[in-house]
Amino acid sequence: MRTVIYPGSFDPLTNGHLDVIQRAARLFDRVVVAVARNGSKQPLFSPAERKTLIEHSISDLTNVTVDIFEGLLVEYVEQQSGHAVIRGLRALSDFEYEFQMALMNRQLNEHIETLFMMPRASYSFLSSHLVKEIAGLGGDVSPFVTPEVKEALAAKLGQAGVN
Ligand code: PNS
Repeated sequence: MRTVIYPGSFDPLTNGHLDVIQRAARLFDRVVVAVARNGSKQPLFSPAERKTLIEHSISDLTNVTVDIFEGLLVEYVEQQSGHAVIRGLRALSDFEYEFQMALMNRQLNEHIETLFMMPRASYSFLSSHLVKEIAGLGGDVSPFVTPEVKEALAAKLGQAGVN
């Protein structure tokens, strides 16, 4: 049973994240999407809200579960008997941060591998940050997120429908 952990802020889940989850689900026996409780950023959605939004979007993937974690990622991976961590890599600009994090995690636990997965090219410009900005300014986010996430953004940002 090969388990991979896909950690992140997911504030909120985008179609790019979903693409990575679907790819990981085809490669591993078990995928745990791990929502970070203690990110350094000020999140728009609570960890529980982010978890629920992901769960709605992955209900067709029987080997994927969603969890909330806090503390060190490497400790969480061990606790889940995980073999690897997956991170999405969209562009060269992601690389330096991801490289640093992967090597630091290896320093903390040399048994945990980090694998990078490229989402579909059409999602390479997509980020939760931009989605929130577009939704906040009344733009149409439907090409970038699931209908549930779009609705949650509209509710959170106090707009009638975010287009
Ligand atoms: O989606 P993000 O915000 O890029 O995800 C970053 C995340 C949550 C994966 C990273 O901040 C993390 O692993 N946090 C847990 C704390 C930890 O282990 N920090 C040391 C990383 S080298």
